[in-house]
Amino acid sequence: MKPDRAKAPGSDGRGLAEPGFGIAGLRFADGLTRRPGCSTNRARSGMLRHLMQGGDRNQPELRPELFRRVDESPDPLFYREPRLVTHIDDATIEALTELYRELLPAGARVLDLMSSWVSHLPSEVRYARVAGLGMNRQELDRNPRLDERCVHDLNSDPELPYPDQSFDAVVNAVSVQYLIRPVEVFTSVRRVLSPGGLHLIATSHRLFPTKAVQVWQALGPEDRMRLLANYLERAGGYQRPELLDRSPAGADPLWVVVARRSDESLPGAA
Ligand SMILES: C[S@@+](CC[C@H](N)C(=O)[O-])C[C@H]1O[C@@H](n2cnc3c(N)ncnc32)[C@H](O)[C@@H]1O
Repeated sequence: MKPDRAKAPGSDGRGLAEPGFGIAGLRFADGLTRRPGCSTNRARSGMLRHLMQGGDRNQPELRPELFRRVDESPDPLFYREPRLVTHIDDATIEALTELYRELLPAGARVLDLMSSWVSHLPSEVRYARVAGLGMNRQELDRNPRLDERCVHDLNSDPELPYPDQSFDAVVNAVSVQYLIRPVEVFTSVRRVLSPGGLHLIATSHRLFPTKAVQVWQALGPEDRMRLLANYLERAGGYQRPELLDRSPAGADPLWVVVARRSDESLPGAA
């Protein structure tokens, strides 16, 4: 296991951990224990199926207990102190910046969801607007890429505080594992995107183990991508997602899900 690198004030003292390696002792309140990732793709997709049992045959239930966390205290407590650290290796940040360079055109209106003091956007590209939403005011105030900042707890209110079609791209870097109501958040992301707009979710293997949801910690990388694709499908109104592995050699991995908002109106929409 790599050493913890993010022992910031206010953290639980464990810093970031790699699931499946450093968190074996953790127990969840509901007794559904975390299981290490299986060794084959087939077994991993079996794990996702196993966890998503019940409900409709074609769309099994995402049971509430999958979104339990070891630390169920309100998120503002955990994020009260700023953490001016990076959560992935420099090479992985560069790979993410390069992906943004490829996918986010100059002049786009960008929302950096679950933002902090860094946004990883290419410094030479001018966007029409970069908004950042996160939990800590001081982190957001230190972020030089942001034109506007919003402190908002998505686990308490998953509705984004922006009008419809405000953005051409919504990016979420290494944070989706902290959402306890991800489908509602993804539905709201779809609402604030323009038609054809991009929802990009970048993930790696580090996390705050007490705050990441149980389902994330139970799955291996491929199943996590499938889980994100499933959130998008449940939210509805997205084109088929692309799953990208942009992991640089010898550095933290970078697995990304990208989906565009479809032009079709959702059933029941006016
Ligand atoms: C691991 S950091 C990643 C920060 C940044 N995206 C990056 O790439 O460095 C997790 C971020 O998720 C945000 N976050 C965690 N829980 C949240 C919540 N309930 N609502 C909104 N943002 C949240 C925090 O503000 C924190 O900045």
